Amino acid sequence: MAEIETVGDIGSEARGRAARRDRAVRAAVERGLLGPDAAVVGLLDVVGIRESAAALRAAFDAVVPPGTPVLHAFAVKATPLVPVVRLLHEAGIGAEVASPGELALARTAGVPPARTVLDSPAKTPAELREALALGIAVNADNPQELDRLDALVRATPTRSPLGLRVNPQIGGGTIGATSTATRTSKFGVALRDAGARDWVVRAYAERPWLTRLHAHTGSQGIPLPLLARGVAEVYALAEEINAVVGRRQVDTVDIGGGLPVNLASEETTPSYAAYARLLAEQVPGLFDGRYGLVTEFGRSLLAKYGTVVARVEYAKSAGGRRIAVTHAGVQVATRTVYVPGAWPLRIAAYDAGGRPKAGPEVVQDVAGPACFSGDLLAEGRALPLLEQGDYAAALDTGAYYFAHHYAYNSLARPGIHGYAPDGEGGVAFATVREPQTVEEVVAESGGAHASALTGLPGATGGHPAPR
Ligand SMILES: Cc1ncc(COP(=O)(O)O)c(C=O)c1O
Repeated sequence: MAEIETVGDIGSEARGRAARRDRAVRAAVERGLLGPDAAVVGLLDVVGIRESAAALRAAFDAVVPPGTPVLHAFAVKATPLVPVVRLLHEAGIGAEVASPGELALARTAGVPPARTVLDSPAKTPAELREALALGIAVNADNPQELDRLDALVRATPTRSPLGLRVNPQIGGGTIGATSTATRTSKFGVALRDAGARDWVVRAYAERPWLTRLHAHTGSQGIPLPLLARGVAEVYALAEEINAVVGRRQVDTVDIGGGLPVNLASEETTPSYAAYARLLAEQVPGLFDGRYGLVTEFGRSLLAKYGTVVARVEYAKSAGGRRIAVTHAGVQVATRTVYVPGAWPLRIAAYDAGGRPKAGPEVVQDVAGPACFSGDLLAEGRALPLLEQGDYAAALDTGAYYFAHHYAYNSLARPGIHGYAPDGEGGVAFATVREPQTVEEVVAESGGAHASALTGLPGATGGHPAPR
């Protein structure tokens, strides 16, 4: 099918991305953004992120009639960094938020309420009140949340488009933790449970202000046909509701995100274009202009445009096993370290000058700095031999990796830099996030409350504190 014709494009896009990354790693070393005093950093490819946003918009524009309202809301959880959300906003992408923190990031980035969607399984009354006061779209997760919305809507009129999240219960993908349409998923109203579908239809009939319907079938590991089935199920329900109420009450379908990312090679596959074509083929009624659309892609917008690069502090051998001990491990690649089978990462080797490393491949482990044996970025990987002072780069880490710091061993959050060609053959960098200082680590760890526990009555147990 049309996939083949895009392979050439994908190839050149992938080559361009790899070349930009190589130039950025070298420039980062030359400018001291990476080195003995900055032993791990996150790098973001600004050109690539813009291209990714443009590809998403073009893919859906190609399958809806002109004038169809389409809001692409970036799932902020994927890369919760204000400059990234701003970059995407300027590229025509809104924000999907799932906590007060994410909403604050989106607002700080300048995303207007009309381009923001609030989803989450545990919204407090205060969060709901704030969202409705701002006019942010809300997808209720369950009947109890709908009760809360009832009360809020009765009390004060709102501009917020309101909807309900349903779980089509069509099954999971290859990763249980990111499958959200299983029979027992914690998300949304379980549509196939006894009586649930009728309850949903009635809920809409009783609430003329419920105008949206939402499903997110899952994230990484969900095959495209299953994603498409989830969309087909939610479309069929929208049609049923509208038929029962006798008007187009549901005017917008929020199809969630979940496009998987190819972690095995440089190629961007599946593409947004392929996914949008598949949806238009499988669910044509959703793309005939009668419905507005909301999408909530996260990983697929950012993953391939981020790289975590870490210095090899020591290169050693134990029991015949070669190990490069680097500064990137569980704190920046938590999922990979704890569940390596589900989240394998490609590793690229660079020499001490930041140039791609050549030489015969040697099977080796790439370890992180944390104090447990499983802290490995990659195990038994064939790479040019990483030596002391070289750099190991974990690729495709722009989403759900270095932006999601895990404070094991009180390891500091690394700095994050965006890069782009400077127009004169070099690389320009911009700070996205400052590296965390040791003083900040102490402050976040109760530094201001050092005597809090020993000051409690009886806490010293009668023993004088050692001097
Ligand atoms: C409701 C919702 N929308 C969108 C996303 C983003 O998914 P992805 O990053 O796989 O596109 C998630 C991920 O957890 C989600 O829960």
